[in-house]
Amino acid sequence: MRSSWFNKVSVIFGPRPPLSWLLLCLVSLLAIIAVLGSSSSNAFDSVTATPDIYLNYRRLKEQAAVDYLELKSLSLGASRQRELGLCGKERENYVPCYNVSANLLAGLKDGEELDRHCEVQREQNRCLVRPPKEYKTPLRWPAGRDVIWSGNVKITKDQFLSSGSMTKRLMLLEENQIAFHSEDGLIFDGVKDYSRQIAEMIGLGSDSEFLQAGVHNVLDIGCGFGSFGAHLVSLKLMAVCIAAYEATGSQVQLALERGLPAIIGSFISRQLPYPSLSFDMVHCAQCGIVWDKKDGMLLIEVDRVLKPGGYFVLTSPSGKLQGSSVGIKKRNMLTPMEELTQRICWSLLAQQDETFIWQKTVDTDCYASRKQVAIPLCKEGHDIQSYYQPLVSCISGTSSKRWIPIQNRSAGSQLSSAELEVHGVLPEDFFEDLQIWRSALKNYWSLLTPLIFSDHPKRPGDEDPLPPFNMIRNVMDMNSHYGGLNAAFLEEKKSVWVMNVVPIRARNTLPVILDQGFAGVLHDWCEPFPTYPRTYDLLHANGLLSHLSSERCSTMDLFLEMDRILRPEGWAVLSDKVGAIEMARTLATHIRWEARVIDLQNGSDQRLLVCQKPFIKK
Ligand SMILES: *[C@@H]1O[C@H](CO)[C@@H](O)[C@H](O)[C@H]1NC(C)=O
Ligand SMILES: *[C@@H]1O[C@H](CO)[C@@H](O)[C@H](O)[C@H]1NC(C)=O
Ligand SMILES: *[C@@H]1O[C@H](CO)[C@@H](O)[C@H](O)[C@H]1NC(C)=O
Repeated sequence: MRSSWFNKVSVIFGPRPPLSWLLLCLVSLLAIIAVLGSSSSNAFDSVTATPDIYLNYRRLKEQAAVDYLELKSLSLGASRQRELGLCGKERENYVPCYNVSANLLAGLKDGEELDRHCEVQREQNRCLVRPPKEYKTPLRWPAGRDVIWSGNVKITKDQFLSSGSMTKRLMLLEENQIAFHSEDGLIFDGVKDYSRQIAEMIGLGSDSEFLQAGVHNVLDIGCGFGSFGAHLVSLKLMAVCIAAYEATGSQVQLALERGLPAIIGSFISRQLPYPSLSFDMVHCAQCGIVWDKKDGMLLIEVDRVLKPGGYFVLTSPSGKLQGSSVGIKKRNMLTPMEELTQRICWSLLAQQDETFIWQKTVDTDCYASRKQVAIPLCKEGHDIQSYYQPLVSCISGTSSKRWIPIQNRSAGSQLSSAELEVHGVLPEDFFEDLQIWRSALKNYWSLLTPLIFSDHPKRPGDEDPLPPFNMIRNVMDMNSHYGGLNAAFLEEKKSVWVMNVVPIRARNTLPVILDQGFAGVLHDWCEPFPTYPRTYDLLHANGLLSHLSSERCSTMDLFLEMDRILRPEGWAVLSDKVGAIEMARTLATHIRWEARVIDLQNGSDQRLLVCQKPFIKK
């Protein structure tokens, strides 16, 4: 199948279109837009116009202007200087939006300086984040899950020595490698026992029954270095690690380096970029959060993202909960945690050793029947697009059609027609979309081979190149719609996981993605993505450039951000209209990527841009 498709593809080689030609096109485009923009504004003045249309024209004009200036500066520079320079060594592990000293200077305090603040960011020189000198290509999955190169991550000796807890245990194997828990029991660290204990505490025979019990996706707060998540992933659950930004010894950086799902996020003053009713289990093992602080708003945020009947697992060895014996009341006074969990209608299922498990109610009437001061229900639809909104002290999701107990879900990841209906998605649309991605994935896979960049590219009739075996593990779908690419990857049994990103202001399909048990997040692509440099092997963007053309941000900055988060020799596959792809190719060359435009030759104006980021040594 693959080769017959390939025959129809022509890889466009030969000289790139001269910049002057592109500029000319852009200038004409600008002129047309200017004419359209002014005439449309006049035309719409007389009629009762939807102001959005005019706004979009203006945005398009601004966007075109930004890109025009970028292209102009590209063409004006001597041809030698067309490629962007490298950043200094201090930016090797650079994550934008998390500059604590800048946040303090801007007057943020009480912990808020540690939070994500993209608005504080100073305009900086554009440069390419370079890998550390000792950087090595990560080992392939699954070997890379258990052993990483120590030179690829930033960690201090002290952090190494202090990492004694169960989910954080690691050891130095050799001079330049770090080893973690291993499935074959080579390095035993108790994670399996812990997982089995949790399963038993919620009434299951073993942790292999999590899926049947409705636990598909888990949010692992402060995941250590991801060992619990790695175990859950081996049980076919989706466990996403979320932890605050850390300049060294980052849990998120180490988890991603191991090929495990992770993203930077914190419980400080804002909501997480997820809709309500997103996860079946939220897990915190010594995650360092004092849950009854801030009038319980942090715990209410956990409640918001938990599905009805979902579990909150808290393992907390010392202090707070210990001695209070949540279950057996020796005193008459409730601890703050007991009181809070009762007020938000969680019931304590079990307590063993240092582990407590609460279950969120499935009954929306519960909230009104509380004896303690009730926590009010939020107004309907208040968190339709919760994108780093301030924390709230009201209960979310009770009026949602998605208020379905996790125990009532269908077992597989495939959504049923009834479930799709809950999301307002037509089954025909959904399955047609999936079908498109099934064939698109086959095409992509055959393109992801260095052969298409070689001097002897594949010709029709040539044998298929070998697909890159386990070369790709961390995938980001930057505009993931229903998560069809993710579903296709699963069907093909590729050993990848996908971070499904839904751009804000696009149709919010994130609930559909999460309800399939996939990893997903809402994101504004005019801002940097909350991850460390060199954390993804493949970035995929279908229609993202067209979507962003109505936003006021620069495509160049988007490409720089893509370059930052791509591993050396990682791939980017963009699919869009021919104009957007031509522009993208120019930008891709500017940031030193190898880039090829692929014409699918099926009569449409869609093109693919397949890019590979080079491995720039020192
Ligand atoms: C962080 O902000 C400070 C103060 O604005 C600035 O001097 C420094 O260069 C910034 N650091 C990074 C890595 O951008
Ligand atoms: C969940 O399943 C139980 C038992 O089958 C049923 O009684 C209940 O109505 C279901 N709840 C919902 C919201 O579908
Ligand atoms: C051509 O192929 C692309 C990518 O597979 C698809 O999106 C598009 O709808 C196709 N166009 C036509 C006219 O078949």
